[in-house]
Amino acid sequence: MQAKDRIIVALDVDDAREAMSLVGQLAAHVGAFKVGMQLYNSVGPDIVRRIHDLGGRVFADLKLHDIPNTVAGASRVIAELGCFMYTVHAAGGSAMMQAAADAIRDRQHESSQSGALGGRVQDPIMLAVTVLTSIDQHQLEQELLIAGRSIQEVVVRLAKMAQTSGAGGVICSPHEIAAVRAACGPDFNVVTPGIRPIWHGSDDQKRITTPADAVKLGADYIVIGRPIVRAPHPASAAIRIADEIQDIAD
Ligand code: C5P
Repeated sequence: MQAKDRIIVALDVDDAREAMSLVGQLAAHVGAFKVGMQLYNSVGPDIVRRIHDLGGRVFADLKLHDIPNTVAGASRVIAELGCFMYTVHAAGGSAMMQAAADAIRDRQHESSQSGALGGRVQDPIMLAVTVLTSIDQHQLEQELLIAGRSIQEVVVRLAKMAQTSGAGGVICSPHEIAAVRAACGPDFNVVTPGIRPIWHGSDDQKRITTPADAVKLGADYIVIGRPIVRAPHPASAAIRIADEIQDIAD
């Protein structure tokens, strides 16, 4: 994988024109575009097709969390759209993640049965969200009633459950990369936000890590928004970040 392919740009905008302008400038310089609830709910699934048309890959960060049958159906639709990655909440449970993985696999089976393999898009990587970084130890104990466990223990437990349930990776904070990598092995995708190059301020991110440090810790993909999308020249910012992780990534 080239260094630039590790960069996922967060398109945290709700205006299709602005999003597509960024995609046009950045598609050749980054690995994928993260479409979250804001942009997806504003533009609809057409945003995925439009990004594909400009040569970008899509990380559909829709954080699915529902009964297994519903998440399986949504996963199948996301797969048919040709998304590169998408998210579900590990807290939805092993049955939910297994149903999602089965729905994607069965779709493959149906396609090969019907001889339609030629037109079939690649399966998306299902990523599990473990513990949201906005949740602190107090909330874990008092609101979620998970007592006597550190956040990191819960993250690792959920990551392992996600892995055995068919997820291809997790989203976690830079502080949990090493523990997840140790628990889930080298083939499990670790994707991390909270990234700030040293030449950019922290914005509202509290605990930040540089792109190079995140990759050193074992991240496969880094999610970066404002340091790229708010840069005077977004493509130059993306190229600079790819250069910073180049030596570590290989
Ligand atoms: O602009 P910035 O680089 O802070 O954007 C980071 C992206 O990663 C945003 O889309 C944000 O919602 C997402 N994210 C995050 N921290 C988490 C989970 C997701 O910053 N714990």
